[in-house]
Amino acid sequence: MARLVSGEEMEEDNFETSIRPDTLDEYIGQTELKENLGIFMKAAKMRDEALDHVLLYGPPGLGKTTMAYIIANEMGSNIKTTSGPAIEKSGDLAAVLSTLEPGDVLFIDEIHRIPRFIEEILYSAMEDFKLDIIVGSDSSSRNITIDLPPFTLVGATTRAGDLTGPLRDRFGIVSKLNFYTEEELKQIVLRTSRVLKSPISLEAAIELAKRSRGTPRIANRLFKRVRDYALVMGDGNISLDITKLALDKLKVDEFGLDATDYNLLNSIIEKFNGGPVGIDALASSIGEEASTIEDVYEPYLLQNGFLKRTSRGRMVTEKAYKYLNKSKQDTLF
Ligand SMILES: Nc1ncnc2c1ncn2[C@@H]1O[C@H](COP(=O)(O)OP(=O)(O)O)[C@@H](O)[C@H]1O
Ligand SMILES: [Mg+2]
Repeated sequence: MARLVSGEEMEEDNFETSIRPDTLDEYIGQTELKENLGIFMKAAKMRDEALDHVLLYGPPGLGKTTMAYIIANEMGSNIKTTSGPAIEKSGDLAAVLSTLEPGDVLFIDEIHRIPRFIEEILYSAMEDFKLDIIVGSDSSSRNITIDLPPFTLVGATTRAGDLTGPLRDRFGIVSKLNFYTEEELKQIVLRTSRVLKSPISLEAAIELAKRSRGTPRIANRLFKRVRDYALVMGDGNISLDITKLALDKLKVDEFGLDATDYNLLNSIIEKFNGGPVGIDALASSIGEEASTIEDVYEPYLLQNGFLKRTSRGRMVTEKAYKYLNKSKQDTLF
């Protein structure tokens, strides 16, 4: 079964586009990013220039794609979208670049997955608005340079560390998205309730906020599930009781942790005596990809002090032992 409290996009999230905020004012939280972008966008408009290239990074579901659309909207420009995995040949990138019009936003999701040999095409496109390509083959091949209009590249990635230095350096604005506070998530839930016209009580919104792993996508997803319970088991109004009942049935606990988190923490304690354990050993012990652990599960566990990362690997904390109701074993003696 797909994991309910993963920040990653799932099929059922396609309702997201309808509840996406489309202005900076409606975008809740990430205050510093919003303030900075607000100023940079205003300045770019006053100079009648394209906004500097923007790199947004952070765990899935925190609002990177949403922000890319907001930037285009606020700049009054069109947005063209593609993603790292969709760009396999240099021609794929050249094709998107050559459709750009002045001031357009080019959004590249999962930008860290662009193959290295293609990345270089981006360098001159970003820096000089020039597209250098080789046409023809073998003896008849030659380099041609095409002028591009000024545009704004917005790149999104869950792993900024995987970008090469030269690519990262070409972004004028680099911003990390942080997990949202309970208060911010509450506001997001209340906003979603208004947009979807499904009434929710304040206490219920707070409860949802608490269990959403600091992630708007999860808050919205849980909202949608709880709304179903409220409709079938009540009168459609989302109350605290219904919310608690639904979330318990969905096996999302009061920290927003679910079976996979439990499994991960438990595995470190049971199989690795609390750690430190290397990411690959941990991944194979719970049957997940190492990269999924790093990008999706672990950031929230680290931030909330269930897990810590040391030079020798991951270790669970005192808090995790308490959470799992376990005591440290003196297994050596
Ligand atoms: N700051 C925010 N305010 C309100 N809703 C948000 C915010 N950030 C994200 N969301 C909601 O969460 C969903 C997931 O955001 P998205 O931009 O797709 O995340 P990412 O691209 O980082 O994975 C969006 O559809 C939107 O409804
Ligand atoms: Mg996205």
